[in-house]
Amino acid sequence: MNSWPDEVDPTGQDVRRLTDELRAGHTVARNARGEWVLLGYREVAEAARDAVTFSSAVSRFLQIPNALDGEEHAEARRVLDRYFEPDALEPFEATFRQVARTLVGQLPARIDAVADFGAVFAVRAQSAWLGWSADLEEPLLQWMRDNHAATRSGEGKRMVVVAEEFDAIIASVLAPRRVAPGDDVTSALMSDGWKGRAFTDEELVSILRNWTGGDLGSIALCVGVIVSRLATDAALQGRLRSGVSDAELDAVIDEVLRIDDPFITNRRRTTCPVHVAGVDIAEGQVVKLNWTSANRDESVFGTDRFDPVGHAAANLVYGTGPHVCPGRPLATMELRIAVQELLAVTSAIYPDEAGHEREVFPVGGFRSVHVRLQR
Ligand code: HEM
Repeated sequence: MNSWPDEVDPTGQDVRRLTDELRAGHTVARNARGEWVLLGYREVAEAARDAVTFSSAVSRFLQIPNALDGEEHAEARRVLDRYFEPDALEPFEATFRQVARTLVGQLPARIDAVADFGAVFAVRAQSAWLGWSADLEEPLLQWMRDNHAATRSGEGKRMVVVAEEFDAIIASVLAPRRVAPGDDVTSALMSDGWKGRAFTDEELVSILRNWTGGDLGSIALCVGVIVSRLATDAALQGRLRSGVSDAELDAVIDEVLRIDDPFITNRRRTTCPVHVAGVDIAEGQVVKLNWTSANRDESVFGTDRFDPVGHAAANLVYGTGPHVCPGRPLATMELRIAVQELLAVTSAIYPDEAGHEREVFPVGGFRSVHVRLQR
């Protein structure tokens, strides 16, 4: 008999609730596709840090830097991490603030914080960062909706179609810059390179896909989780309204996201037989690192304990190990500004009768967060 939950089918389930139940007895499970799912904090963190045993070369598509291993991955990170250094991001702070201020200024009294605020802010902030035209706002928002629908459906064909749609959007931003490079991040990336040569077109599309894919969907979902928490936790909302430092706000946001991490899993493939939490996993198996579950592991974080400072070092919202999120400084800045500007134009945020609807696997967080904004 198996000593772990087998053939777990997460279809239609709230990942947070499902993994809380599974983790009560096991830190490793297997899903209906025969993939291993790591649920415990220790198992997830150790696998993420051991990139030799747990390879990221899982996808059949080119994914820079996500699906690279070893020195090739390290070189990609050396080149690409520069775009997220403080000096590189600092010039965008005022722009992001302006984007957020304009948007919250136009929001009606009743909003869905995911669609009306998170998604629109994510697209506008990202376009400002990459130097993309405002004309792309509607195609990008439509793409986010299509991408979510395709992800939820689990249908491979739909995923390929949305991937192609996205590549077409990226091709449309690269083409004019080939003729006349702009003074923007996209043009800078186009003149960058690795392995002693310039990035190829295919590589540029892959990098931009991973940047924007990481940014758009996750920021929108993170905003939903944060606004939901603020609306339902008057004490926390009051504390943030009393004027806290950027560092305290960042820590609070990270802790809110730890408790309800909308960025659910990343995949690895074992390069040799491994023994994880009493389970033998053969070479060549797909292993999923479930961040949402690991971030709620009671043995590390206790049960329902909200502790932004105490939990900061163990927080896995942005991953750990060599593939740790390079976009964290950008995401942190965007989320901080979104929250600050929303609080600045409101005197209270509270739940609307329309309610909060949770997402289901393979998406995390909330599908919609209906709140009322009191000016
Ligand atoms: C909004 C909140 C975000 C969350 C919660 C998040 C979370 C994560 C996590 C958990 C990983 C680790 C993946 C792994 O170990 O396989 C990761 C990697 C990555 N993230 Fe983020 N991310 C966010 C925003 C961003 C942004 C804004 C960007 C870029 C603009 C970005 C770009 C990437 C890339 C390229 C990787 C792959 C790194 C590698 O494989 O070396 N992310 N992210």
